Amino acid sequence: LQRTFIMVKPDGVKRGLIGEIVKRFEQKGFQLLKAELMVIEKEKAELHYMEHKEKPFFGELVDFITSGPVFAMVWEGENIIQVSRLMIGSTSPESAAPGTIRGDFANSKQENIVHGSDSIVSAEREIANLFEPLLTRFSNQNLPYDEQRKTI
Ligand code: GTP
Ligand code: MG
Repeated sequence: LQRTFIMVKPDGVKRGLIGEIVKRFEQKGFQLLKAELMVIEKEKAELHYMEHKEKPFFGELVDFITSGPVFAMVWEGENIIQVSRLMIGSTSPESAAPGTIRGDFANSKQENIVHGSDSIVSAEREIANLFEPLLTRFSNQNLPYDEQRKTI
């Protein structure tokens, strides 16, 4: 099983899409492990998007992601990193397929409703940055799944 970091961005929260997005991941059969409505501090937003530090849109992106509350989540499931990226859809509105979250709800390249980690390394970094490092791993793998969830 993999864990990933999924976040409803400020535009998605303002548009009332938290429930819609949670519903899609639940219906896919993934497990929600942690969720919090939070306003991200500038320093943490810069770390979250550090791979884009040199891009011309970096400042604007950090301003956008800190502009209001986000709904940050940790989800778990089989191949969830790859599958969640498919469910989210392409970054650009021109290429986000209908049926994906962005294809159905986004028409801007920046304000595109939702974020999902793109690799195991980014998922661990993003979860540790916005929640806590322990959540990136099973600390209690010997327990049955329901018991693991109780201790999170
Ligand atoms: P995330 O899940 O948010 O990381 O999106 P992504 O992986 O589909 O795209 P990427 O990591 O390349 O870009 C991160 C975010 O930066 C995007 O989701 C957009 O919000 C924003 N972004 C990407 N490209 C552009 C751009 O050309 N212009 C602007 N203004 N924002 C961009
Ligand atoms: Mg990305």
